Amino acid sequence: MAKEIHTIGVLTSGGDAPGMNAAIRAVVRQAIARGKQVKGIKRGYAGLLQEEIIDMDAHSVSEIIQRGGTILQTARCLEFVEAEYQQKGADICRKHGIDGLVVIGGDGSFKGAQKLAALGINTIGLPGTIDLDIACTEYTIGFDTAVNTAMEAIDKVRDTSTSHERCSIIEVMGRGAGYIALWCGIANGAEDVLLPERYNYDEQALVNHIIEGKKRGKKHHIIINAEGIGHSASMAKRIEAATGIETRATILGHMQRGGNPSCKDRVYASTMGALAVDLLCQGASNRVVGYKNGKFVDFDIDEALAMTKDVDEYQFEICNTLSAS
Ligand code: ADP
Ligand code: F6P
Repeated sequence: MAKEIHTIGVLTSGGDAPGMNAAIRAVVRQAIARGKQVKGIKRGYAGLLQEEIIDMDAHSVSEIIQRGGTILQTARCLEFVEAEYQQKGADICRKHGIDGLVVIGGDGSFKGAQKLAALGINTIGLPGTIDLDIACTEYTIGFDTAVNTAMEAIDKVRDTSTSHERCSIIEVMGRGAGYIALWCGIANGAEDVLLPERYNYDEQALVNHIIEGKKRGKKHHIIINAEGIGHSASMAKRIEAATGIETRATILGHMQRGGNPSCKDRVYASTMGALAVDLLCQGASNRVVGYKNGKFVDFDIDEALAMTKDVDEYQFEICNTLSAS
């Protein structure tokens, strides 16, 4: 028979994402509704190892559903990849009575959760990253807000770019994943989108495309460049020299990670937080919650981590086609 969980811990790990607070709130309140104790672990696995553990009640998550960031803070903790520190983490959980743990983060954070599960702490992962780069799910907490933030910023750059008849390179977040770039490429009608998954570093093709657009009377040329390709400032200089068209680079940076979560991020993060608690109450462990084919689902973490995904080829293709005029 599955062991009964008495105390649920919750932590956020890796890059923060808007909607993490909504998920924390849901974990705390659903756990209390199920008669469980709740402990918040600050600063991800780093805080776990430092025993930065606080008691949480329904009131401790008041006024946070609308706030970006994470009230528990987050961190990257390199030590936690080592078995010795994973054991220490599991021992600390036991010392504080934490027998169920909700880890909100990305694939790296899930690997930590997987290790703790193997050491006897029941764990559930929630996909929290603005990058949308978790293979088992079509939704990650924070992507919707971040991509809307980026889209609105790009609209603003486009206005001035058109007025001055310039080329604008706008760099969006995503070191290894081009989802924000691709979605903005479609939503902002960008003339070019450079994705880590697809870019072939053929800058001459880019230059030719800009010149052809200018000849057809285009008043701007928007290039959305993913962080993984980067070097937007030097690229702008080279493009200006090669085309004779004034070219500016704008790096949107961490503004994309902050701000009030969208309605979707609040609702999905709340649902996932509650579901994580219900899974723990049913005795589940080593699972990750996802959203697939219109449903909230859960997967074994080992299987989830072995899955792969890629940007949608059709969307990449139409992104280029639809901006042609
Ligand atoms: P994300 O969770 O967004 O993918 P990271 O890759 O930075 O972000 O991982 C967040 C944290 O998860 C790391 O700082 C580390 O503490 C933990 N982690 C990453 N990889 C492992 C691993 N192989 N084993 C245990 N813990 C890991
Ligand atoms: O959280 C994901 C992410 O924002 C990536 O898009 C980006 O590459 C990375 O984190 C940046 O991390 P840091 O906060 O360390 O600059």
